[in-house]
Amino acid sequence: MAEQHSSKGIMVATIIVAIVLTAVVVPFSMKAEKSAADASSADQADSRIQPVARFELAKATPAAAAGPKDGATVYNSVCGACHGTGVAGAPKAGDKAAWAPRIAQGNDTLYKNAIAGKNAMPPKGGAPDLSDDEIKGAVNHLVGLSK
Ligand code: HEC
Repeated sequence: MAEQHSSKGIMVATIIVAIVLTAVVVPFSMKAEKSAADASSADQADSRIQPVARFELAKATPAAAAGPKDGATVYNSVCGACHGTGVAGAPKAGDKAAWAPRIAQGNDTLYKNAIAGKNAMPPKGGAPDLSDDEIKGAVNHLVGLSK
């Protein structure tokens, strides 16, 4: 009796699942067929995904608008590649003897050379998308490490 009862339960559950699957899958596949036949299906697809794309953009904007990178961030992501190790004859961060004569030139010269490049040092450390102010911040950070 108990067995009968449970097999009836399974049957009911199976029927419910079949109905739900049919209800979900059939309209969906019919829609896909219809829009595939439709010449403007690409446009429709575009407009269907647009709200999502807009949402992603809106989400990405605050990060992009977060403002200029600070000196330490720029130094760590760009300048440290050479100035951290002294690659290509770059004066090492923290090497006071190497920096003293450069610092003596004054900040304006250091900024100018960091922005325009000097010998093996590429303009803006090879990151032309950085603003002049971001470079100045990185120079300040580098000089601060080396005083
Ligand atoms: C590809 C390696 C490299 C990268 C990356 C690099 N530098 Fe340099 N940097 C050099 C070298 C080499 C010198 C020494 C140039 C010379 O005096 O001949 C130098 C010199 C400097 C000087 C001294 C300039 C002077 O007038 O003596 C400053 C300031 C400087 N770099 C700042 C930066 C900043 C800020 C960054 C990151 C935005 C950066 N560098 C990224 C290689 C690099």
